[in-house]
Order: sequence, then C-alpha cells, then structure tokens
Amino acid sequence: MNHSTDVPATTLELRSTISEDGNVTLGIRRGDVAAPGDDDVVVRIEAAPINPSDLGMLFAMADLDAATAVDGELPAVTAPLSDRVVAAMGARVGKSMPVGNEGGGVVIAAGSSEAAQALLGKVVGFLSGNAYAQFRTLNVAQCLAMADGTDAADAAAAFVNPLTALGMVETMKAEGHTALVHTVGASNLGQMLNRICIADGVGLVNIVRQPDHVALLRSQGAEHVCDSSADSFGADLTEALRATGATIAFDAIGGGTLASTVLSCMERVAGESGGFSIYGSDTLKQVYIYGGLDRGPTELRRDFGMTWAVGGWLLTPFLMKQTPEVVERLRRRVAAEITTTFASTYGMRLSLHDAVDPDHVRRYGRVATGEKALLTPQA
Ligand SMILES: NC(=O)c1ccc[n+]([C@@H]2O[C@H](COP(=O)([O-])OP(=O)(O)OC[C@H]3O[C@@H](n4cnc5c(N)ncnc54)[C@H](OP(=O)(O)O)[C@@H]3O)[C@@H](O)[C@H]2O)c1
Repeated sequence: MNHSTDVPATTLELRSTISEDGNVTLGIRRGDVAAPGDDDVVVRIEAAPINPSDLGMLFAMADLDAATAVDGELPAVTAPLSDRVVAAMGARVGKSMPVGNEGGGVVIAAGSSEAAQALLGKVVGFLSGNAYAQFRTLNVAQCLAMADGTDAADAAAAFVNPLTALGMVETMKAEGHTALVHTVGASNLGQMLNRICIADGVGLVNIVRQPDHVALLRSQGAEHVCDSSADSFGADLTEALRATGATIAFDAIGGGTLASTVLSCMERVAGESGGFSIYGSDTLKQVYIYGGLDRGPTELRRDFGMTWAVGGWLLTPFLMKQTPEVVERLRRRVAAEITTTFASTYGMRLSLHDAVDPDHVRRYGRVATGEKALLTPQA
C-alpha cells in the first residue's frame, strides 16, 4: 500500500437509526477506516450532497418540524415517525445505518493493483451509500477520476443526477421516442438535463411550478418551459408537446394529477393526425415516475385513450441493463463535463455538526430549488 499522507484509523461519520419507540435519530459517531485491499483506495471526503434520495435514509419521512437536539458526547438530532412508517421500515429498526449515496474527495492511500495506484492523489467522485464521513475505503469501481485541478466539491455529485439525466435520454432513444418531458425542470437534475438536450439537439419540455423558474430555465437557453401554476398550463403544455413531438415523460413528483395531465395533452396532440377511434390514438404515451416528491396517490383520469404506460424508473436497474461500453461512455462524459453540463448548485454548506442541528435539518429537509445542502465533512 502506498499513501501520500497518513491514513487515520478512525473517522467521524453520520449514522441513522430508527428505534422501536418510533423515532429516527441521526447522529455523529466514530467509526473505523478499513485498510485498503489490492483494488481499494482510501478517500479523504471533502464534500457530499444531500440529495432528495438521501433524505429517506436520513430521516425516513419523519416530522422534521418536531426535530430536537439530543445531548451526548457527540451531537445528534431526533424526530418522531408515524406508526405506519415504523411498520414499513421494520428491516432497519434498531440498526445503525450508514448514510450518503455519493461524494467527492482526494485519494490518500491506494492498494497494490494498477487501477488503485492510478488513483493515488487524484480527485474522485464516488458512489458508496456511506459518503457522510471524513474518510472511506472504497473499491476503485466505485470511483470516477476527475481531471487534475478539479475541485473535490465539483466532483461530489458525479453519479446520482448526472447518470440519471443521461439515462433518461438513453431510455428515450432506446424506446423509440424522439423528445421528452421532465416535470421538475428547475431541479439540479432538470438543469443538467436541459444542458444535455441543448448540446445533443434533443427536444425537451420542462415543467416547473413557479414563474421564477420559467425565467431561470429560459436564462439557461431552454426553449420549452411550462409553469404548472399558470391558468394556461394545459394549453402551454399541449403547444410544447406539438412543437417537440415528446411522447415520453420523466416525473419526479409522482403524487397528484400531473402525470395524467401530461398523458392527456400528449393524446390531444397524437389525435390531431389520423382518423378518429373510440380507443384513442395508437401513439404510445409513456410516463416514468422516478421520484416521490409528492408521496400522495398518482391519480390517472384516463382521458388519454388506451395506448399508454406508467411505470417506475430507477438509475441502478437502468445501468445494470446497459453494456459496460455504454456505462463507460456515460461515465467519461460526466468526468469530462463535471463543471459544465453536470455542475450542481447548493444553497448551503454544512459541517457534520451542522447536519445534525435541528434548524439546519428543517431547512435542508424541504427539497426546494437552489436549497440543496453540500456536506463538508472536513470542516
Ligand atoms: N429514480 C432515480 O434513480 C433518481 C436518480 C436521481 C434523482 N432522482 C430524483 O430526481 C429529483 C430531483 O433531484 P435533484 O437532486 O435535482 O433535486 P433538487 O435540486 O433538490 O430540486 C428539487 C426540485 O423538486 C421540486 N419539488 C419539490 N417538491 C415538489 C413537489 N411536491 N411538487 C413539485 N415539485 C417539487 C423543487 O421545486 P420547487 O422549488 O418549486 O419546490 C425543486 O425544483 C428528486 O425527486 C430525486 O429523488 C431520482
């Protein structure tokens, strides 16, 4: 094993635990740093985003308004859960879970293999499921090396959103569609998707829910931005679908009627060509629900004929269906464009201590445009 600096034996890290009495506690703990095997590296973690998908693991849909600090040698925060959630989370009750899907940092030690040695001293983004820590030992396959001079904070969100945005365009093409709809256009992922579609000449209909976010996306070159809070939303969306020919949508909201509205507007456009049929057009209209920003039921009015599909979409199964060459192509693009196409915006930078402060928890738990937290574990 080679290392450019001393590797500590222990690390501070965040852990989340659901207790049988119906509370979730997120606390700072001290854990071990494993010695790297041949194909492993030790990363000093400089930054890790708190993505919407991390919040489920951190707080399990707890009532964060009721979050309170827990006294102890190392700080923690606790919040109450509903009985329904505790029952659904039975498999993790009483277990201290690592948290944090992805992060970025510097490789400070490496195992003996060529691939591990090649990463020594490099800034990497990584996907690990335990990123909210100061140091982690990771397999080289979990890491994506960045160009020299890359800031570790820029490398921190190199997997979850970039590969999902790219995966949406790949899915669109593989399933025979030529343009797409995205329902949280102003999100970090939405802004990445907008840049991808502009660069690749793919038609994109962005849906947002605030006039400010129409302006934000237009300032980034978006052609079609529809505000779901506007009276003219249905007409605007239909016009954008007509202009782009989009017949597939990726919806991070899930609950409510938006997916249904998208399908209805797609059917209206599809019905404009061809003759009348009681069963509607024969154009396949696809909505993939890929997030749960609204946990309520998905309401389908079924006023969009019979040729439609609604399904779930997740990054990991998508990647598992791709050839190694495709995955490598996507990873290379992310690394090459990490500060441009795949740049993220953060509303706050938090130390590990800040991350368990109840007021900060309430703020980063809101999931609003521009408010994402970047954890900086060395601070
Ligand atoms: N399936 C997968 O594999 C996968 C992978 C990556 C990401 N995702 C999902 O992608 C989504 C975006 O992630 P991100 O990191 O880009 O998020 P982000 O930057 O934190 O932005 C969150 C966005 O969601 C909007 N939002 C929040 N609650 C909403 C609601 N109830 N209805 C409508 N809009 C709402 C916010 O808009 P306002 O400011 O208007 O509230 C904001 O634009 C998340 O849902 C995430 O879970 C899924």
